Amino acid sequence: MPDNAKIIPMPVPAGAQIDICEVGPRDGFQIEKTIIPTDKKIAIVEGLMDAGLKKIQITSFVSPRAVPQLADAAEVLAGVERRPGVVFSALVPNAKGAERAAETQVDIMGLFCSASESHNRKNVNASIEETLNRFLPVAEIARAAGKTVQGGVATVFGCPFEGEVPPASVVRIARFYRDLGITDLNLGDTTGMATPTTVKAVLAALREAVPEMTVTLHFHNTRGVGLANVMVGLAEGVTHYDSSIGGLGGCPFAAGATGNICTEDLVYLLEESGYRTGVDLPRLIEVSKLTQSVIGRELPGQVMKAGPRLQHHAMDAVSTAAG
Ligand code: HMG
Ligand code: MG
Repeated sequence: MPDNAKIIPMPVPAGAQIDICEVGPRDGFQIEKTIIPTDKKIAIVEGLMDAGLKKIQITSFVSPRAVPQLADAAEVLAGVERRPGVVFSALVPNAKGAERAAETQVDIMGLFCSASESHNRKNVNASIEETLNRFLPVAEIARAAGKTVQGGVATVFGCPFEGEVPPASVVRIARFYRDLGITDLNLGDTTGMATPTTVKAVLAALREAVPEMTVTLHFHNTRGVGLANVMVGLAEGVTHYDSSIGGLGGCPFAAGATGNICTEDLVYLLEESGYRTGVDLPRLIEVSKLTQSVIGRELPGQVMKAGPRLQHHAMDAVSTAAG
């Protein structure tokens, strides 16, 4: 069986380990109206590690004017006490961001470029071509600093400004990353436009074009089919997924953006389907409740409200329907 996420068209067998990258501290906090205090961010990240998450996208080294919510990127990384075996990633849009990230304990620099021109322009104030050229010095800075680089593509399954995005536009960016020596490809469904049909089509195109790359699927649940898309990913052999605590998330520069698929809901689905995640669900639910109290509004996650499947309720928790 595949022990990585290469695009092998074979269902992931039950019992396999599924790799979850928690992106709430980045994709989640970036869109919140209120700026979360650095010490609260650190407490949430430490809770996520204690619940068993081994990969955390902790922040972004983007312009603090564009995303003031993540202006404390260096402080968060300086304040977090890393648990054994945990890796941290952060988004990096350009050389300036790479220089900032290189000074920290971050392990992975995540590049990102949209497959549609209009969202890319909104998101990074540049064309796709200009954006890809900016990544050349980023890769050099990352390698000199001993960091890994991951190649991200946004609006893979549709664009809020343009509609359909041809798989060929995704392939073009994936090939650029491959030629830059990058092996990890992150496929972003920025505003939840992926469907089982489009997931299969994009994976088929990439399997053809860049079969050597390792794929992570990054779904947003904007139209309620995020976990259905995960089931399609599993059927297509993908073992790496991004998700966000409590279902936080969204790109501030994409109209109609809402949260990522929720980490507790994903862990629940995977474990109940016979996969292994290494995550302790009751502890994760506690972190989700902590996050909800820090954010100060109800989060979309379902399992944090209902609890694990076999959680018993007291008989006197509800009244008896006596006529
Ligand atoms: P720009 O204004 O064109 O940048 O923004 P610039 O190069 O012209 O520089 C302007 C000023 O910003 C300068 O400062 C730079 O030094 C500074 P000044 O001289 O005026 O004082 N600057 C920086 N400062 C700190 N760190 C930096 C940095 N870069 C420039 N890295 C830029 C271009 C790319 C910087 C901006 O548009 C930006 O930061 N964009 C990021 C937007 C973002 O974070 N979006 C959300 C993440 S993507 C996402 O959510 C999708 C995803 O989840 C996948 C999916 O769901 O599909 C990944
Ligand atoms: Mg996202």
